[in-house]
Amino acid sequence: MEQPRRVEHQLTDKGYVPVYTTTVIEQPWAGYSAVEHATWATLFERQMALLPGRACDEFFDGLARLQINAQAIPRFADLNPILKAATGWELIAVEGLLPELAFFEHLANRRFPVTWWIRTPEQIDYISEPDLFHDLFGHVPLLLLPVFADYMQAYGEGGLKAARYGNEPLTELTRLYWYTVEFGLMNTPRGLRIYGSGIVSSKGESLYSLESAAPNRIGFDLKRVMRTRYRIDTYQKTYFVIDSFDQLFRATVDPDFGPIYYELKGATAFPAGDVLAGDRVFQRGSGEGWPADGDV
Ligand code: PHE
Ligand code: CO
Repeated sequence: MEQPRRVEHQLTDKGYVPVYTTTVIEQPWAGYSAVEHATWATLFERQMALLPGRACDEFFDGLARLQINAQAIPRFADLNPILKAATGWELIAVEGLLPELAFFEHLANRRFPVTWWIRTPEQIDYISEPDLFHDLFGHVPLLLLPVFADYMQAYGEGGLKAARYGNEPLTELTRLYWYTVEFGLMNTPRGLRIYGSGIVSSKGESLYSLESAAPNRIGFDLKRVMRTRYRIDTYQKTYFVIDSFDQLFRATVDPDFGPIYYELKGATAFPAGDVLAGDRVFQRGSGEGWPADGDV
């Protein structure tokens, strides 16, 4: 079988630009090299040493049920029956980032796209786009949790709907995804815990998001989040803290966003690092090391 493509950012005269693909493939599991399995092992072991006491319980529950380990890159075909039985989700293998609408369409149908390729040894500590480790280790464990599984499907449907409202609603919805699914924190009786996949798949940000004095940690508020710009090339300046997945679900899935998009029309977005008057502040960040610009 021909190797599927590995679609990554490309260097152009406008800098690095993301490249999109919609192709769904068969995971070429037999083609992974010893180096690629070793990269998986390194990343897996490193995060497993770091995350106890930092990631939420639901993440560990999901991970245990999937029976993934450091031995080898998991086969999607082994995970799918477990996932299917738990919440009806399935993994599909893709070549890289998907265009927005294709991504929403998959989520709305309980298909989670996972990039088939894993980063190179040189990219162990930083990669500018999702690879297999981020997509699988970061996202899949919570898909075994019914409330989160439902949230993700509703998000996909919400994305298709936002696209009919226009670009501003799409941007607002993307911010919500970013500050919850990718970079969310949760307040638990035992302290703040990570649930965002962009954090659990990153050694540096697993420590930074919880322990650094630099970032803000602010209670989740739907419209506040929808108006907040974010960082794609540095750690976040602000993390939003939910109280529970039920709270997140009630605050996002229940309301019809139509009137909210209308209300927010033309509203200026907040810089990523701002703390506002109405915020429920867990920590006001020192801002140390923050670049002055670059919020998207
Ligand atoms: N409730 C939102 C709407 O009506 C959809 C949505 C669900 C958004 C889940 C985010 C997360 O558009
Ligand atoms: Co992700």
